[in-house]
Amino acid sequence: MIDSHCHLDFDAFDGIREDVIEEARTAGIHTIINVGADLASSERSVKLAQTHDAIRATVGIHPHDAKTLTDGTFAQLKKLAATDRVVAIGEIGLDYYRDLSPRPVQRKTFNRQLQLAVEMKMPVVIHTREAFEETIEIVEKYAHNLPGGVFHCFSGDAGDASRVFDLGFIISVGGVITYKNSGMARMAAEVPLDKIMLETDAPYLTPVPHRGKTNRPAYVSLVCDKLAELRGVPAGEIEKVTDRTCRKLFRLVETFGG
Ligand code: NI
Repeated sequence: MIDSHCHLDFDAFDGIREDVIEEARTAGIHTIINVGADLASSERSVKLAQTHDAIRATVGIHPHDAKTLTDGTFAQLKKLAATDRVVAIGEIGLDYYRDLSPRPVQRKTFNRQLQLAVEMKMPVVIHTREAFEETIEIVEKYAHNLPGGVFHCFSGDAGDASRVFDLGFIISVGGVITYKNSGMARMAAEVPLDKIMLETDAPYLTPVPHRGKTNRPAYVSLVCDKLAELRGVPAGEIEKVTDRTCRKLFRLVETFGG
């Protein structure tokens, strides 16, 4: 099974990082995509990927940190993106819920990194919160020149999801589908299974029954089990299809033989 989105480089894993990676391996999580959030986090993400067989990295500046993108950091990000074991640009996007960077700066940083992904011919990992329309409008300008992308921790309904699929993109779902009255769960039960990836977004969004604890890649199996329950299919089928989708998006095919 693959955890398609987590942040093992974050402070929450200081002192337990290697244990958490080993725990995931033991639990059958053969691949972990570690997602960069700013330049320093992207650098740490690449380092993790270079020192662990099971880990691949993405590099990017999260909308919260959009204001940290300068010509200097952009040049460094571009250099990192070309590094071995980097599979995507992300996470990038718009967050109008927390508004930690001014919106015009978020838009500029988002556009610039989408352009980088086009140049590098890399897929993108998108974060969008309370900014879906604008995110779609911006992604639309680049989508036909990109080898795909994912709207991660997707919180829209099935109609919103179909607009993502129309762009040739897919979605990922995490622990939120295990929460009571989850709109994400309803959506995840309805959309085509081959358009979904599993993620944890660890250390955040811990699935039931571990809420209150630090999330970790091993818990992606709880997301898999819940999706199986919601869709009425065996967990093994969910694992097979979502792994295949993830390998295709991040071009891991050559590593695992499809
Ligand atoms: Ni994330």
